[in-house]
Amino acid sequence: MTKPTPFKVGQAYDSFAELLDQLWGENLHHGYWDDPPGDLTLEEATTRLTDKLAGLLTVKPGDHLLDIGCGIGEPAIRLAAAHDITGVGISIAEGQVERANNRAGAAGLAERLSFRVADAMDLPFPDESFDIVWALESLHHMPDRWHVIRQAARVLRPGGRLAIGDFLLRRVDGVPSDASSVDLVRMGALKLVELDEYRSHLREAGLVPEAAEDVSDRTRPSWGKAAERFEALREQALQHIGAEQFETTLSRFRQFDDEPAVGYVLLAARKP
Ligand SMILES: C[S@@+](CC[C@H](N)C(=O)[O-])C[C@H]1O[C@@H](n2cnc3c(N)ncnc32)[C@H](O)[C@@H]1O
Repeated sequence: MTKPTPFKVGQAYDSFAELLDQLWGENLHHGYWDDPPGDLTLEEATTRLTDKLAGLLTVKPGDHLLDIGCGIGEPAIRLAAAHDITGVGISIAEGQVERANNRAGAAGLAERLSFRVADAMDLPFPDESFDIVWALESLHHMPDRWHVIRQAARVLRPGGRLAIGDFLLRRVDGVPSDASSVDLVRMGALKLVELDEYRSHLREAGLVPEAAEDVSDRTRPSWGKAAERFEALREQALQHIGAEQFETTLSRFRQFDDEPAVGYVLLAARKP
């Protein structure tokens, strides 16, 4: 298995939309739990992750936001509802874009927030047109995340900020790992990088890394919760996927839960 093309990624998100809604809710990203985790639901915890990432940024009135890989729009809607900003979100999945625009309208934000289909590998925006570029759990899908980061740097205005939530490759007891117990990693469908490599690519793109929070221990419960929920959705899931794919997906959730080398990072960088 190699990395699916952006087109295939978009198709997959749209064809499993109903299932994804029931599995993850409005946010298609990890949740964030405290230590001890308490009884936050997956929905509450995913909203907290959005807030944690936003907390790494200074959002100013009038800022113009680009959300790369916007899902059904929830993170950008939450940001725009909390701050006097404008924004545009992009996704490679057409159905997500339609829903995100409808959801922004329902939230009374249509004049400030819009969504469109675009491939992040080829951002259709002029240089220096955004104050904030936000990529929450989308870069791992990209054929080349460093290319997207260079694109993000291009469209940021001087003084603009980049916020990223992404998978992370961690050392276990100080020893480098390749996380090969996770079959998506072993097969090349998911590429993970260590924090130092991340920081050096941000610098190469002309950005100054400002914050990096390894939140792996706070996000890890996501996989166990998702596995539990997926099992409970077995009957509905089997209407969309075969029994074999169901078992493979479930075992992948468990692999993420069990592999300590797979982590999660929140990053912020600034364009000088
Ligand atoms: C895990 S979801 C995260 C969605 C959203 N950021 C959230 O937190 O709810 C990944 C998103 O990245 C988008 N995506 C993947 N590859 C893309 C590409 N090449 N260009 C634009 N969007 C892409 C998917 O369509 C999806 O919306």
